[in-house]
Amino acid sequence: MTAVPLQPPRRLVSFTLDGEETRVPEGSTILDACRSAGTDIPTLCQGDTLTPKNACRVCVVEVEGARTLAPACSRRAEPGMTVRTGTERARHSRKVVLELLASSTDLSTTPRAAEWIKEYEAKPDRFGEDAARVDEQPKIDNDLYVRDYDKCILCYKCVDACGEQWQNTFAIAVSGRGFDARISTEHDAALPDSACVFCGNCIEVCPTGALSFSTEFGMRAAGTWDEPAQTQTTTVCAYCGVGCNVTLHVQDNEIVKVTSPHDNPVTHGNLCIKGRFGFQHVQNRD
Ligand code: SF4
Ligand code: SF4
Ligand code: FES
Repeated sequence: MTAVPLQPPRRLVSFTLDGEETRVPEGSTILDACRSAGTDIPTLCQGDTLTPKNACRVCVVEVEGARTLAPACSRRAEPGMTVRTGTERARHSRKVVLELLASSTDLSTTPRAAEWIKEYEAKPDRFGEDAARVDEQPKIDNDLYVRDYDKCILCYKCVDACGEQWQNTFAIAVSGRGFDARISTEHDAALPDSACVFCGNCIEVCPTGALSFSTEFGMRAAGTWDEPAQTQTTTVCAYCGVGCNVTLHVQDNEIVKVTSPHDNPVTHGNLCIKGRFGFQHVQNRD
């Protein structure tokens, strides 16, 4: 039985979205309203289980009377406001953000990045090869997951998931400033020597594939990763009495990674090391 948390009823806020009178529950963001209306807005740093960070700015929209564009993922809908999502200014801004990101990071495993680049006619090579922000080998220092920071857009989602918003482990943080800013363990220690407890909750929220299961990383390198061929089955983790939901991603009769439903009112997509990585025992046939 799925528990549905009861919440006090919320008043509706009425505003104009792309010329249409729109009503959303009080506290909704412009992005929530856009999604309800079927308007597609690109997002990268927004996460459905995390407080918005406003780091990427790919979701900007125009709010009448405002001097600057507003991030749809965090700006709340207000009564009487007028929002336009497809103005030339908003679209140009999204295009430049995509060009900056695509020039400086590897977006090859970012879902929908290629589609947005095409839609906004962004030039991924606009700032040249020298624009690469990190340019280093993937960090493979444990058997469970890989950190490939050439794919990192510095969205802070992993830091928030590891830290105060969920795991409270604080194994990773942003080190350095400006162009030298990067996600790192303390003193850049290898993960097994850091505070990391290998919950994988950072992988769950990473929007670009910079953090990935070793299984996925290896299969992508071997050219055998085939997402359309994978099945997803949500079941209950049997390792302890908490009973977290785990979603098993299976390819060729092997579990290749484990995620967790974000709408679960108890775990919100988070797991511990046993639920996240214990699948290796399930299929140990030796
Ligand atoms: S696996 Fe868990 S503890 Fe380790 S860095 Fe990621 S979120 Fe933090
Ligand atoms: S590793 Fe992923 S989640 Fe963390 S900052 Fe980079 S892109 Fe965001
Ligand atoms: S998705 Fe809104 S600022 Fe990144």
